[in-house]
Amino acid sequence: MPENRQSIHGEWGSRWAFILAATGSAVGLGNIWRFPYIVGENGGGAFILVYLACILLVGVPVMMAEILLGRHGRQSPINTMRALPGRYGARPAWQTLGWLGVLAGFLVLSFYSVVAGWALAYVPYSAAGTFTGADTQAVEQFFSQLLASPGQLLLWHTLFMALTAGIVSRGVERGLEKGVQLLMPLLFLLLLVMVGYGMGAGAFTEALAYMFTPDFGALSGKAVLVAMGQAFFSMSIGLGAIMAYGSYLSSRSSVPGNTGLIAGADTIVAILAGLAVFPIVLAAGLDPGSGPGLIFVTLSYGFGQMPAGAFFGTLFFLLVSFAALSSAISIMEPATAYLVETRRWRRPWATTAVAGAAWLVGIGSVLSFNAWSGVKLFGLNFQQIMEYLSTSIMLPLGGLLIAVFAGWVLPAQVTAEELSFPAQWGYRLWRGAIRYLVPAAILVIFINSLGLLG
Ligand code: PHE
Ligand code: NA
Repeated sequence: MPENRQSIHGEWGSRWAFILAATGSAVGLGNIWRFPYIVGENGGGAFILVYLACILLVGVPVMMAEILLGRHGRQSPINTMRALPGRYGARPAWQTLGWLGVLAGFLVLSFYSVVAGWALAYVPYSAAGTFTGADTQAVEQFFSQLLASPGQLLLWHTLFMALTAGIVSRGVERGLEKGVQLLMPLLFLLLLVMVGYGMGAGAFTEALAYMFTPDFGALSGKAVLVAMGQAFFSMSIGLGAIMAYGSYLSSRSSVPGNTGLIAGADTIVAILAGLAVFPIVLAAGLDPGSGPGLIFVTLSYGFGQMPAGAFFGTLFFLLVSFAALSSAISIMEPATAYLVETRRWRRPWATTAVAGAAWLVGIGSVLSFNAWSGVKLFGLNFQQIMEYLSTSIMLPLGGLLIAVFAGWVLPAQVTAEELSFPAQWGYRLWRGAIRYLVPAAILVIFINSLGLLG
């Protein structure tokens, strides 16, 4: 058993505090907003199967590696990646990994906050009965009008970022734990209600067929890359968020057990979100490939049709906002911890600086839905570039580096001790995956997405 060294930022009160915080990080807009819309854009079944394979074969081993790196380093990801290479005879260049993560975090947070702002905006509108009885055209129009207003988007983006900064400045554990404990199960229940509604009133059988009948022929190399990126994004891995949380984890907690719980909860919520969305999409004749507005249009239409829909809708968007908040705070944690550790900033200032920078970049995303919608690079607007660059490129790249470092630089003795698998075969499986399978899979998917493998 490793000795119990602690991070200067403190330690989780219990194993459950870590699991709750990490699950709070994992479950967010990635599951409820992004998963359904990219499934719809990429044609359903085959995409979901590739996604699940990425979670299991790449995501799970990388999450274990990221937690173990954090716990072994006991510092912010940047400083952990500064300290560990020297200790194990590797090049200082490994510290790039920490910086890459912090940069990816800024990009993710910048658009994440804008989309979370949409969810916030839908709370009062749902409560006011805006969607009650509305037809699909009306809900679509409402969404496009929201996007067309830079002022509104900026307002909600600012509000969300301020809420996030407020929580992070008080330290991650305080206040968060209770919230996650109560609100996550509630979100889960509400998703079940939506799935139940879809079973009764939607095209449920068609949705099942859509989601689980694979047509691999229709799957492009690019789609496989998007599926892998989504696995990283959804599990919160590849940018150091889970590494930072791992650095506050007691040495006595089982990494594989924790990882299983977090990954399981994350995956179930994503599938449930799909099962809530697609029966309505298919029954109402909406377009599954309509993009980032998918859940906002579909679910608010669904709520508008169901009994007590204004109540359920309000609660739903409130819970989604909370889920987004518990994810956003984890994205801010690596950069904040670094400023506190190395620059000796006080935590509230560090938080303000990090949130302020991400907020500023987020304005680009706000404008990409209106004033700058015509400004494109490679056919992508500003927000799409941020999303693609961070989720599909930077997170898998971070994962690749984490895997190589944990598998090839850290001695087996260290990783075996930190992970503390209950059985030896479990560790051997992990080590084989992290040394060979994960790097090979990420590289092949990167190369394949360039269309070079035919
Ligand atoms: N996992 C979060 C979600 O699914 C987003 C996230 C990505 C959080 C990366 C932290 C790090 O919404
Ligand atoms: Na997620």
